[in-house]
Amino acid sequence: MDAFRDFLNQHDEPAWDDVLADLEPSLHPVDREATRIWFGFWPLKLRRLLRESTDEAATAQEYLLDGRYWLERQLDESVDFLYGSIYWNRVTEALLQRSESASDRNPESLSSEIRRFAGGLAAQLKVEKSLLLGISAVAFMAFQQVGAQPFRNGSGSGTPRSKRPAPKKILKYRSRKTNQGLFGFLRTVNRKFTVRFDESKRDAAFSCIEGQDLSSASAGDERDYQTRDHRCIAGPIPAECRVASCGYCWIGILSGRENIIELSKHERRRLNYFGYLDASARHETHPVIRLACQSKCYGDVTVVVPPWNGSLDGRR
Ligand code: FES
Repeated sequence: MDAFRDFLNQHDEPAWDDVLADLEPSLHPVDREATRIWFGFWPLKLRRLLRESTDEAATAQEYLLDGRYWLERQLDESVDFLYGSIYWNRVTEALLQRSESASDRNPESLSSEIRRFAGGLAAQLKVEKSLLLGISAVAFMAFQQVGAQPFRNGSGSGTPRSKRPAPKKILKYRSRKTNQGLFGFLRTVNRKFTVRFDESKRDAAFSCIEGQDLSSASAGDERDYQTRDHRCIAGPIPAECRVASCGYCWIGILSGRENIIELSKHERRRLNYFGYLDASARHETHPVIRLACQSKCYGDVTVVVPPWNGSLDGRR
């Protein structure tokens, strides 16, 4: 098992960026964005600073960490927005077995190892390999970060759902457009769009007026979200400043990223400052990670809200 973890630990952020870039074309479209979002939410640099910390409270203060930033305490829950999470129990079981037999041979490369792992499991489960590739990459990265124990015990944060609509149905649902009402096609201003923030719940959505930013639109949802997450003072997306200063409102865009205004220089600078942008997003106009307060919306979107925020690259 140590040999397997040692092998994984040879991979730093740039190495993982290459692995993801190599795997991405082979990922099923239902999990292409979701996989990148998971890696964005759980970067190695967060793990590194937590591991090196001798005083958690001081570290949290220095890096402005807020929310639930320990992956091992929410390992199962963290994968819930991936379609592949329906196979999570089998993936974790197989990964533990794989880690115990790692001394038998030397893996060639991490991406070929992940492909082989996903292929073997796909054959056992009789499903498309592309559906298992993203969740397998996530499992490998999570194992590198938290080790075997949380995989054995579960993270105690709820088991991912075992049933979901078929991938085709999910993709169709994501591409559905909000009905603008009778004669809506004539409407050129004040169109309303739907922002979904949890695909598993019918009512996990709020409305956004054309050109409104997602943070203000979220604040219009007056239901109680603070009981579940203290950072959600108004609406399901945490927010404090609404001017790209605090980093509270970062989100993953699961679908409809083309419906959000192009990334401005200012937002890019701030995302980099917080350490939220990965290498592949450096030149993208519509990356999967955005700041909700800077994201003016021009169509329906599905977002994922991370359980923590901080300033990993620009400490206090
Ligand atoms: S609310 Fe502070 S950065 Fe968006």
